[in-house]
Amino acid sequence: MSDFYLLGCDVGTSGTKSVLFTLSGKPVASSVYEYPLYQPQNGYAEQDPRDFAEAAFASIRDVIAKSGVSPDSVLSVGLSGQMHGLVLLDEKGEPLRRAIIWCDQRTGEECEEITRILGREKLIAITANPAVTGFTASKIRWVQKHEPEIYEKTRKILLPKDYVRFALTGEFATDYSDASGMQLMDVPNRRWSNEVCAALGIDLSLLAPLCESSETAGRISREASKKTGLLPGTPVAGSAGDQAAAAVGSGIVRPGVISATIGTSGVVFAYADRPSIDPQGRVHTLCHAVKGAWHVMGVTQGAGLSLQWFRNRFCGEEMRVAAGLGVDPYSILDREAALSPIGADGLLFLPYFMGERTPHLDPDARGVFFGLTASHEKRDLLRAVMEGVGHSLTDCYDIIRELGFDAREVRAAGGGGRSPFWRQMLSDMFSAPVVTTNSSEAGALGAALLGGVAAGVYKDVPEACDVTVFTGNTVRPDPAAAAYYRKAHVLYQKLYRSLREDYQLLKELRNPV
Ligand code: XUL
Repeated sequence: MSDFYLLGCDVGTSGTKSVLFTLSGKPVASSVYEYPLYQPQNGYAEQDPRDFAEAAFASIRDVIAKSGVSPDSVLSVGLSGQMHGLVLLDEKGEPLRRAIIWCDQRTGEECEEITRILGREKLIAITANPAVTGFTASKIRWVQKHEPEIYEKTRKILLPKDYVRFALTGEFATDYSDASGMQLMDVPNRRWSNEVCAALGIDLSLLAPLCESSETAGRISREASKKTGLLPGTPVAGSAGDQAAAAVGSGIVRPGVISATIGTSGVVFAYADRPSIDPQGRVHTLCHAVKGAWHVMGVTQGAGLSLQWFRNRFCGEEMRVAAGLGVDPYSILDREAALSPIGADGLLFLPYFMGERTPHLDPDARGVFFGLTASHEKRDLLRAVMEGVGHSLTDCYDIIRELGFDAREVRAAGGGGRSPFWRQMLSDMFSAPVVTTNSSEAGALGAALLGGVAAGVYKDVPEACDVTVFTGNTVRPDPAAAAYYRKAHVLYQKLYRSLREDYQLLKELRNPV
């Protein structure tokens, strides 16, 4: 038994998960609390910030109780958070409305406006990204315009995990990795951008002070101690956006290794030692959770989300069987999908349920099954969904390679990364080896390691990864499958181009007046 522990708390979209780790990165207890996602209109996505805080309190309390460890052996807390979400607080620190979260797509007009105000080139030079509906700046503009009475009362603008930090410590802070996804930072120079904030009418005093992910940015308050069981004064790290945290938990802290994460969203992530910006703005450049580093990532909006949709709508029987056997329903879906031939018997799927980021940046794109016939079975649809997510991640991977990033190996992470079937598919599609790491909880582990550095357990983030993150299984591409997928990818890409204008017509049909 290790004598000391690090706590990682992952504030996700489906719920918040807390995991207690030993100093060598071994999980000893975990607990998750789920919360609802509200979609009051097509393309809207909101969650209640109070749910984030309550789920963090409850899951931490559970983990301490379950593990039986003494709270004084928990050296630190690190957070990982769903990125880009807008939390607005009043002068008492109370949320003024539900959080508008990362996958919300209502801000197409605001993005055009931001691009007009700052100019596309300048916007990319400063914030390292074109205007993105998912990012926070356009959500702030939306509230300024549509809910001015709320904006007027706003005294603090926070990201979801920074609201949880506030609930745990009473301190306002945000780290570079998460803050750079707000589109309000001068990303190459790692500071808030006076120019962008002034142009968008955002007072700098509304933003939290910036810090490194691996420094202490608050301590557990007396009140939070009562709710969590942690000792008052336990340090809480600056922490990170979920993608940077998961990258730390997968050891993506030096050049040459890339990760592919399939969570609700899907991400291909590369470490960058300088702010390498895609002039076409197809992938995001943001700060990393490693001090003085950046990263480049491509994002599939609806990755695990697409499979979860299919499971929830059409796989009641599989879920019942899984519950009876006490196994993960996705393992049953994997087996069913594997019974369908490669290419799902001529069926392609575009996973654009929440619009798409990489490479299209199109909030109006929507999901498509292409090629359906009366002979298709459920297993073909399942396989097509998984392949469609793979094709979208291939778009991300190809651009990252094109920008000059080396990929000796791709590390799989997230719930989807646990599926051997999906890993083989990614390896075939990328034509690269795909490996697992020892942690199935990369986000929580990354967060815990950031806390460990803040508490002085490790010298820095790369050292923390060296002693805790190890690679496991490797799958290698099958040349015949790789050749098939390359051909299918050409048609996959053509489908979006053919449909781009039709998505606009569909939007008009959805909004008849
Ligand atoms: C990354 C992104 C998502 C969210 C939710 O840019 O929007 O990965 O962080 O996981």
